[in-house]
Formats: sequence, structure tokens, C-alpha cells
Amino acid sequence: MKQKCVVALALPSEMLSSLAEQYEVLPWTEARAIPEAELANRLRDAEGLLCTLTSPVTSAMIDVADRLKVISTISVGVDHIDVLAASRSVIPVGHTPGVLVDSTADLTLALMLAVTRRVAEADRWIRSGQWTDGWQSDLLLGTDLSQATIGIVGLGPIGEAVVARLKGFGCRVLTWNRTPKQVPGAEPVGLDALFAQSDIVSLHTALTEETTQIASRARLASMPSGASLVNTGRGLLVDEAALIDEVQSGRLRAGLDVFATEPLPVDHPFKRLDNVVLLPHVGSATASTRDAMVARAFDNLHAGMAGQRVPFCANPEVYEVGR
Ligand code: DGY
Repeated sequence: MKQKCVVALALPSEMLSSLAEQYEVLPWTEARAIPEAELANRLRDAEGLLCTLTSPVTSAMIDVADRLKVISTISVGVDHIDVLAASRSVIPVGHTPGVLVDSTADLTLALMLAVTRRVAEADRWIRSGQWTDGWQSDLLLGTDLSQATIGIVGLGPIGEAVVARLKGFGCRVLTWNRTPKQVPGAEPVGLDALFAQSDIVSLHTALTEETTQIASRARLASMPSGASLVNTGRGLLVDEAALIDEVQSGRLRAGLDVFATEPLPVDHPFKRLDNVVLLPHVGSATASTRDAMVARAFDNLHAGMAGQRVPFCANPEVYEVGR
């Protein structure tokens, strides 16, 4: 009898067919996220789960999924999964580090430039018919990346790749990491100093209890006037209410790819603010990166289903000898 695999996101039919060669697949085919109760129900007698960041995988689901052997998420972030509960049940959680580093670092630079050079605002300005007077010396003035001090919060592979790209711009780069780390061309500083001294702060740390709202009201308030916050990590890294206040007052600008609530609600205040560039969580959205993420997630899934070590495992402690 085939093992059961819950697929908690809509996948192209050829991918589902390839899974169906090996497993009894329980697919979710709608674009909206699978409801939690539906996912919990499907997991009750499944051996595998393929999911992504749109479906929370809670301890309540894990605790009753008696046959579950592997959770494989098509994402590097695992904050939507109760990894501790998975570890308690000795279930490996596969994820996709490495393959989305360059795409996400590129998009971070795109946001930094879009915010400092007012790219989205200028595009809206032309489309709304306001370009009537040709070149003007004071039109849509921005700031130079080369003259900026840029603070990178989190020096995982993505943070490091952003630092490497910034070298080409010749700016001063400050860094903070949970465990002290030195990278060429950047100065490690304390977190509060980083916020207080940076013209752009960019967030690249994983979302954990410790890092939730790491961009707090007090830290945002300490940023220099005219500074920008860029976030391609997770929305909950930021005190969004505080950021809205700072942006509304005109003191800060922001470039955001991620939000506390996704999709961004229809009437969200960010949508009314000109000095914020908004993207719909597309840091890893290039065709080749998404292919690589799916391939890595499939490898993790297959290994877990076969009782083998999951190659990219977010909770390797499940393999500790003697468990
Ligand atoms: C991830 O992988 O965690 C990103 O947020 C989505 O690509």
C-alpha cells in the first residue's frame, strides 16, 4: 500500500503526478491557503506533509498525526511550523536553505534602490499624468546608496550576500548577528547602535521568539530622520504599528516584501503611504530559484518518507544518537 502524502499548497499537475507515482497524494488545489481544520484532518493518517509558509503546522496537528514521518516545507523559513513539537514527536522538518540566497539578496538591493531613488513613486507619478514639464532640477530627489551607512540585521547566507553586493556601492556597512560574526567589508556593532547609525536598516534574521519585533518602536524611533527600513525577512520582525507611525509622519521610509498579515489587507495603511515600496513576498520569486526550492523540498520529502536522513533538516536533533 502506498504511503499518504498531504500536499498543503496548489502545485502544478506534473508535480502532483510525479508525487502520485510514489504516494497516495492528498492535494490542495485552491490558491487560498488550506484551512487549518482541513489540514489537521488530512494529517491524521498521513506519513508525509509537503507545505509552504501559507499553512501553519501547529503542535495540535502534529500531536495527533500519529503516522507522520516527515514535514517538508518549500521555504527556508520554518516559523510557520511548530518545530519544537515536531522534534518532540521525532519528525524531521525539511526546508530549503541555500538556493534562494542570491534571489533574495538581489531583491533586497532592488528595494533599497527603489526606496532611496523613489522608483515606485516616480512610476506612479508618470502614470497619473503629472509629467508635464520635462526635466526639472528638483524633481523626485532621492539619496545616494554610495553615501549611505547601511545596517544589516542577521548575517546568515542572505545577510552576507547583501553585504557582498553592497561592497560594489562603496557604502559603509554595519552588521549585527545573534552570535558574533565578522564578514569582510562590514563593521559589527550592537543592535541599538546599528539602528541609531544607519540610513538603511535591512532585516535578514530568522523569525523566532527572540527576534519578534526586533525592529521595535524604540529602535525605529532612534533611526536618523530620512532613513529607511527594508524587510525581506518576515513581517513580524517589525513593530508594524510603530513603522506606520514613523512613515506617516514622514520621518522614515520603507521597502517591504513581507508583512505581519499576508496577503496585506485591502485597506491596510501602508497602501496609502507614498514613501513605502510594497512587494507581495517575492524575495525568492525567480523561475530557477522556485524550481530549485521545489527540488530541494521533494528530496527532503522522499528521504523522510523512505526513513532516510532528510538532507536539509531544520531540526537535526531528531537524529541524535540514542533518541
Ligand atoms: C522562505 O523561503 O522562507 C521565503 O520567505 C519564501 O521564499
